[in-house]
Amino acid sequence: MRRLRVGVVGCGSIAKHRHLPEYAMNEHVEVTAVCDIVEDRAIEMAEKYGAKVYTDYKELIANDEIDAVSVCTPNYLHAPVSIAALQAGKHVLCEKPMATSKEEGEQMISAAVEQDKKLMIAHNQRFVPSHVKAKQLIENGEIGKIYSFRTTFGHGGPEAWSMDGKESWFFQKDKAFIGAMGDLGVHKTDLIRYLLGEEVVEVGSFVETSAKDNTDVDDTAVCVLKTESGIIGTLAASWSYVSKEDNSTIIYGEKAILRLEDDPAYSLIAQYQNGEVVKYELGGIQTNESGDQTNTQVIDKFVDCIVNDTVSPVSGEEGMKSLQVILAALESNEKKTITRLN
Ligand SMILES: NC(=O)c1ccc[n+]([C@@H]2O[C@H](COP(=O)([O-])OP(=O)(O)OC[C@H]3O[C@@H](n4cnc5c(N)ncnc54)[C@H](O)[C@@H]3O)[C@@H](O)[C@H]2O)c1
Repeated sequence: MRRLRVGVVGCGSIAKHRHLPEYAMNEHVEVTAVCDIVEDRAIEMAEKYGAKVYTDYKELIANDEIDAVSVCTPNYLHAPVSIAALQAGKHVLCEKPMATSKEEGEQMISAAVEQDKKLMIAHNQRFVPSHVKAKQLIENGEIGKIYSFRTTFGHGGPEAWSMDGKESWFFQKDKAFIGAMGDLGVHKTDLIRYLLGEEVVEVGSFVETSAKDNTDVDDTAVCVLKTESGIIGTLAASWSYVSKEDNSTIIYGEKAILRLEDDPAYSLIAQYQNGEVVKYELGGIQTNESGDQTNTQVIDKFVDCIVNDTVSPVSGEEGMKSLQVILAALESNEKKTITRLN
């Protein structure tokens, strides 16, 4: 079978550290084209992966040879690039948050349905081994009824990560639409929905700009969430954890407490009510600090669902539900009320 021809739009950090190396390692894929408005970035990646260079994503999408597109651009371009690619008959892997509004998210989902193409949102936290194991323990009933949770994702901010440093689009509301809550909070929203297997129905939040003076988006957010069965918990997202990344989640259940990505050596620790403690060494989470963004399984799973014609492992509908929680958090903060989700 001929290999899947992939085009990557946006040659910034996530394309460089995750999408392109993971595609290159996948035997079913040929990296065919790359695009960036900064031509040198596209040229550097094109030379490394033997791809054609574009500076206009519309031209890349018009290339009939391309079967699938990764959307690795600033957030405001996720929907327009994804929709254009889907309408041109390509499968799409889009970075998170999937879009900047409910309407854009719905248009992405419709375009995928109309064209019968795969749409996947790059919520990699679902594939982290400790998270997968925790979901199994919860589903098997080992933890019993879940009462509450605490999840957080914070680091010193994207200036150390983005190609444009302090001048990055991450800090500009017209391009990012949301700050730490959309960058990191959406990951933990998706993780909590995945782990608990339930939807969030109520959100209360404080979303602030506390630490940065180069931005008009939030850098520090704390939310309270309630799920459909009544599980309550907190979610914090921050670009103001100045000295160390925190990517931890704690699940408080009837029979045990699960500590995920909380201990440097053991990525999952189960503390049972009877005193037993089980420590799992499952390998760490991908962090900006370690620079280890590969081997996330995101790309392999996207390719698998195309090659085997199976359901997208993180569909547009899933991405949309996680997006709606962060939109609800913004609304709650603005209106100073609890926001209900349908
Ligand atoms: N899944 C994750 O864990 C994760 C981690 C980091 C970033 N991301 C997401 O990846 C996306 C990209 O972020 P990044 O960290 O690579 O940012 P970045 O700033 O490092 O790179 C963005 C790149 O997009 C390019 N670009 C801007 N407009 C463009 C256009 N019209 N056409 C083509 N290229 C264009 C920029 O020149 C830049 O090279 C964002 O949506 C971000 O939220 C996801």
